[in-house]
Amino acid sequence: MYKALYRAYRPEVFSDMLGQQHIVTILKNQIASGTVNHAYLFCGTRGTGKTTVARLLAKALNCQNEDVQKRPCGECEHCKNIAAGNFVDLIEIDAASNNGVENVRDIRENVNYPPVLGRTKVYVIDEVHMLSTPAFNALLKTLEEPPESVVFVLCTTEPEKLPATVLSRCMRMDFRRVSEEELAGRVRQICIDRNIMMEESAVRVIVAAADGSARDCLTLLDQCISGRKGTVTRDDVLDSMGAVGEEVYVELTDKVNHNDPAGALLVIDKLMRAGKDSRQILQGWMSHYRNLMMTKFIANPQDVLSMSVENIERITSQAERTDIEMINNAIIEIAKTITEAKGSNQPRVLLEICVVKLATTTADGRYVSVNMKKAEREAAKTEAARAERTPAPETRQQEMPEPPVERVPVQEPAPVQEPAQPHEAQPVQEHIIREPVEDNYPEDTYSEEDYYEDEIDAIWAEIIEDGESQTNTFTIVRTGAVPIKMNDTEFVIKVSGQARRYLEKNRGPMEQLIARYTGGHHKMILRDEEDDNHEMSLEETARKASEMLGTNVEIH
Ligand SMILES: Nc1ncnc2c1ncn2[C@@H]1O[C@H](COP(=O)(O)OP(=O)(O)O)[C@@H](O)[C@H]1O
Ligand SMILES: [Mg+2]
Ligand SMILES: [Zn+2]
Repeated sequence: MYKALYRAYRPEVFSDMLGQQHIVTILKNQIASGTVNHAYLFCGTRGTGKTTVARLLAKALNCQNEDVQKRPCGECEHCKNIAAGNFVDLIEIDAASNNGVENVRDIRENVNYPPVLGRTKVYVIDEVHMLSTPAFNALLKTLEEPPESVVFVLCTTEPEKLPATVLSRCMRMDFRRVSEEELAGRVRQICIDRNIMMEESAVRVIVAAADGSARDCLTLLDQCISGRKGTVTRDDVLDSMGAVGEEVYVELTDKVNHNDPAGALLVIDKLMRAGKDSRQILQGWMSHYRNLMMTKFIANPQDVLSMSVENIERITSQAERTDIEMINNAIIEIAKTITEAKGSNQPRVLLEICVVKLATTTADGRYVSVNMKKAEREAAKTEAARAERTPAPETRQQEMPEPPVERVPVQEPAPVQEPAQPHEAQPVQEHIIREPVEDNYPEDTYSEEDYYEDEIDAIWAEIIEDGESQTNTFTIVRTGAVPIKMNDTEFVIKVSGQARRYLEKNRGPMEQLIARYTGGHHKMILRDEEDDNHEMSLEETARKASEMLGTNVEIH
């Protein structure tokens, strides 16, 4: 069975840890000198290594290596058993699901039995802030006078919820977010291990989105590499990611600040193609502006923004470039749009109108006449076109010149007359291959199991032919229906009213027909042509926006 990367790459010894050197150093010293505490409190965001270090400590306290300096060795029987999750003297309790006083009483009774196999029993209580008050009180007694051979490690993401009595009895260690540099190093190392090629700009997107959590980083990496062949590009990564990283909002906001509605709409379009939800984008963008505002007013933004150092830097530098009035306008406008989008079945249009409105407004609330800014528009046009072609947009390249990447061809290159330019030719080719079946398919994310457009077309052609050979009336399907998507369980068809009635009446035979050519049962899903609210093109949006704003918005 496939083991998730974040589990496959759990550090086995202290030197595997990324970051947290301030903690590792103390623990190593304590282990070597035999001065380990009886109770620790590990605090910090999820995925920064709390559970991992708790296990390393348990290993060290039970490691069979003769040399104390080398503990945990990761190789002795005890180390291996702990890694495999079956060592009786390491007891892990999830307080989120065992938060009652009876659970803590169980601990208290068992604490007095000596270790079975090792030297020290280690109790790890995860999400300890979830314990009920009586449970905390029961735990306190044990923390006050724990038996000699017992160590407690309490882990929490929310230390402020713990009673002072608990805090005062533990040695507190604060886990920090892991830097992007360190995460990137691990990502590259895993790619080498797994024989995967990944563009450096793709690595950058992953580590930025992980926002300092090593676990999120590995989970994202997992998503991005599963099922991919050849070089993983930045666009692949953006495609695979469920969440929108901070840098996308930085990009979007920059376009808006530069009065570049076309560029901003292209950013939205890219996000929608990757299956992102308009309402989510609005929410994310709103909190991005909130972050910009905070950084304007607060001297040490790192104290209020819970984000990686690098993301804070991105935000701070954008805040410097952005007027406070622009930020205010944007927050008001986006908030309005969020409310409107709640009751609307056209959230995308509302989002786009909001984007256009902001991108055509100056800091003092006047409309920028897009017509008058011909030179700028030309610049935006070339830039947008370039952004379309190159995987990394300008902002990233400035920060970090991209090293040349070796690209592995996705397919056998067709014989060509002239030598192909890999940088020009490749993205185009990939574009064709990876294009989701329906460009702007709503809310649904484009999943790995989705079939490609030409496969579906081929299947559809057979279905039509077969159907028409059985009955003449099947022509209704040829004229009034088009397949838009297929995965392992569903076959989605866009239909006119007449075709809908026909297919609904003949669902049984139609599904049989689909099964015959797809090789498995698929539920036929019919979508009305007119429900296609996502169908609105950029041009239509621009027209709508122009009407609303009374300016001329052009899309290139
Ligand atoms: N500091 C770190 N260094 C290396 N890997 C880490 C680190 N923190 C987390 N990980 C990775 O994330 C996974 C989950 O980490 P975990 O220790 O359970 O996080 P936490 O308990 O803080 O939520 C680990 O298996 C490991 O792959
Ligand atoms: Mg944990
Ligand atoms: Zn060992």
